[in-house]
Amino acid sequence: MFGRLMHKKHINKMIRIFKDAAKLSKAAAEIFSAAAKEAIDRKGAFTVAMTGGSSPAKLYELLSGSQYTIDWQKTFVFWGDERWVPIEDEKSNAGMANRLLLDKVNIPKENIFPMWVAGTEPEKYAEQYEELLRKYLGESGEFDLILSGMGDDGHTASLFPGTEVLKEEKKWVAAYYLKPQQMYRITLTAPLLNKARQNVILVFGANKAHALGQVISGVYNPEKYPSQLLKPIAGELIWLADDAAAAELPSHISATRE
Ligand code: 6PG
Repeated sequence: MFGRLMHKKHINKMIRIFKDAAKLSKAAAEIFSAAAKEAIDRKGAFTVAMTGGSSPAKLYELLSGSQYTIDWQKTFVFWGDERWVPIEDEKSNAGMANRLLLDKVNIPKENIFPMWVAGTEPEKYAEQYEELLRKYLGESGEFDLILSGMGDDGHTASLFPGTEVLKEEKKWVAAYYLKPQQMYRITLTAPLLNKARQNVILVFGANKAHALGQVISGVYNPEKYPSQLLKPIAGELIWLADDAAAAELPSHISATRE
């Protein structure tokens, strides 16, 4: 029994390091398609939260190709966070996923839930989005897969350093005005992220190296490095980093090199 618990603890957090972003993106695509298959076999549906930023572009292109067979009819797509701009805006995370992936695959429009809607206040929409999530995820709040990126400053989703949302304990979704970027952001909160079966974080490029080193092995200070809030309750946390992003990880950290 003890042995099993130890094993579970061991596999709960994983760091996989790749030579380059192309290999990393391929591994992410494999995780995505395996998670979809596993969830659909188990319960007939796959719930996934997509990410924005530049990190998932290659992954989305791969998933739109024919080498991955994903049952899109049974896939339900949400987002981890969004910039509060219309979907047509080039800054929209949903717009980017649409262009690179969702417009190209056979997914019913009703299975796609962007974190933005016209004519509503972001705070109001955060409440509505949380209701929607309760409907699709149930009270467990367990996504099958959440994809995220990490910023140079250690933020993930829209959990930015020094913001109030980092202290959220109850809400699943929150919206707030991010002054330095002069825009509203809407985001899943850490309590919800931590309920997922799998959190996969894509991190590449030398400009992420310092933050990744601090997030993984620095002093616990999520005010400064919000990605430290990622501590799954029962699911897995998988960091996918390229060599450049992994440069400041201490050598004693257990990681695979692929
Ligand atoms: C956003 C993102 C954000 C992103 C990181 C990494 O809306 O800005 O969701 O959390 O994932 O900033 O961004 P890059 O992938 O562009 O480095």
